[in-house]
Amino acid sequence: MSMTDILESEHRTGKIKLHGPEDFEGMRKAGRLAAECLDMLIPHVQPGVVTDALDRLAREFILDHGALPACLGYRGYTKTVCISVNHVVCHGIPSERALREGDIANIDVTAILDGWHGDHSRMYGVGPVAPRAKRLVDVTYEAMQRGMDAIKPGATTGDIGYAIQTYVEAQRCSVVRDFCGHGLGRVFHDSPNIVHFGQRGGGERLRPGMFFTIEPMVNLGKWQVKVLSDGWTAVTRDKSLSAQCEHSIGVTETGYEVFTASSAGLFQPPILVG
Ligand code: MF3
Ligand code: CO
Ligand code: CO
Repeated sequence: MSMTDILESEHRTGKIKLHGPEDFEGMRKAGRLAAECLDMLIPHVQPGVVTDALDRLAREFILDHGALPACLGYRGYTKTVCISVNHVVCHGIPSERALREGDIANIDVTAILDGWHGDHSRMYGVGPVAPRAKRLVDVTYEAMQRGMDAIKPGATTGDIGYAIQTYVEAQRCSVVRDFCGHGLGRVFHDSPNIVHFGQRGGGERLRPGMFFTIEPMVNLGKWQVKVLSDGWTAVTRDKSLSAQCEHSIGVTETGYEVFTASSAGLFQPPILVG
């Protein structure tokens, strides 16, 4: 989501909600389903597959499991997933475009199960990819992981952004500024914003029971992006490659719980290097 959109979101409560044990159980189920959906897509991400076919598979999977696709109809969006290929940063719209060998693609899915939102995205390699594309995917995954590892009661949202930004920039990559993670739960996009850059100690203090996403977008080139005339597709201005990884998490008494972990251990699908 863009930061402006989140600030204007109609369901936003403005207050950061603290959740109890039953809410954690709800998020576990929704998050697991989102992860299973992305597990299911792995063998289908092949050269020649059109992204709309992947969208259809995701939609059917979610509906077959008694859940709803959160993006379908969300602010006029007409698909179940976002598929963002190569220099597309986020919110790529599934279409009749076919994936090609060497592409890297982010697939972002949000399932609503029993009212709870599981929001999750991963990077997929289409056949063998260039070493620099693989490196970008690895840096992005590690950035998300370092952001999560900053989470514990008493730390702040700024600590998360600081951990991500300092790591990414040390790898000579850049962090996208225009989109952020977000609180979620019964609401798709809520407080707090999780900005993927920032100052230690800045932002909101983390407390047990907060639910939010961490979803850094990392570019091989500069961080600037623009949104295409379809109103959704965000691309890097310098056409450099971009990658993203997203988990939905809950703050616990001692740290955090990942709701969208793959029980099959497939979070980071093996990406072949050509
Ligand atoms: N899943 C995206 C996120 O991480 C939101 C996509 S909204 C859509 O927040 F409408 F583009 F699908
Ligand atoms: Co999200
Ligand atoms: Co998402």
